Amino acid sequence: MKKRFLTVAPLLALCLSSCATNVHHNVGEYLVKSIEHTGDFNILQLTDTHLGDKDDLDVQFKFLDYLIKDAGNDIDLIVITGDLFSFTSKSNAKKFFTFLDGHDTPWTVVFGNHDEQCNFNIDWLTSELNTKYKNCLFKDIQDDDVQGNCNFYVNITHSGTVYEQLIFMDSNRYDYSGFKGYDYFHQDQIDWYSSVIDSAPADAKSLMFYHIPLPEVNDAWEKGTKLDTEGVKREPSCPPNKNSGFFKVIKEKGSTQGMFFGHDHINDFAVKYEGVVFSYGVKSTDRVYYDEDMLGYQVITLHDDIEHTFDIQRSFHTYAEVE
Ligand SMILES: [Fe+2]
Repeated sequence: MKKRFLTVAPLLALCLSSCATNVHHNVGEYLVKSIEHTGDFNILQLTDTHLGDKDDLDVQFKFLDYLIKDAGNDIDLIVITGDLFSFTSKSNAKKFFTFLDGHDTPWTVVFGNHDEQCNFNIDWLTSELNTKYKNCLFKDIQDDDVQGNCNFYVNITHSGTVYEQLIFMDSNRYDYSGFKGYDYFHQDQIDWYSSVIDSAPADAKSLMFYHIPLPEVNDAWEKGTKLDTEGVKREPSCPPNKNSGFFKVIKEKGSTQGMFFGHDHINDFAVKYEGVVFSYGVKSTDRVYYDEDMLGYQVITLHDDIEHTFDIQRSFHTYAEVE
């Protein structure tokens, strides 16, 4: 009897443990909010703030506050596309989120490859974002069967019908399997993306926000149509080495018209490639590496028209302006 108990107990524990980390949730559970909105919808994209414990947060918050206010009063959503932190503490992460929440504009984040290299684990970070801030539109289902920690979406509706989906995804961190390099969108995330698109009417469109560019970003730069002559590429793009086929699915679904990311601090170009806009954000602090003339933000203005057209406006600023 005793022997049998010792054999079964670890198996039971293993089952409970694996079951507890792989629960399938209906796609509707990942919807953070439906926003009824007509007219232009303005999204302020900040990226790669890289706030660390050795930084003077007052200086950084002053600059970021300047950027947010400079973007104007008609911003509907602030999005930070990853690498919020570099080696920071729980208390500084809380200070940053409290600072963002104080602007009384809905805000959200996706994670970059550096957001786990801090004095907290990713579950603490997502628990904090899930529950503590009144203007934060973030959702991580921690026990789900989808790779990553920030896969969620927001619907923009017209008279209750979904018009546009804003899809936020975790491009993950590092690939510790044979491929090495940066991590990639895994198949369960690609399936999740498809289910999000399928949950909306066929004529709805979408915009996506994540951190690490897709492998197609290099082809997009070389073969795509540049949206303007001012966007620059001052460093090699650093996508994952593995192409998991996500862009093929994005094209097949025919919903996503623009993808916005960060990661490579001194690239800010936007190009249309095979029907989809690939757009870097503008690095938003002088932490880690940067070019002085490439700090600021960009605003994505989604127009309320049949084609769901959108514009991207970059804005550059220096710390000297703020003093
Ligand atoms: Fe970064």
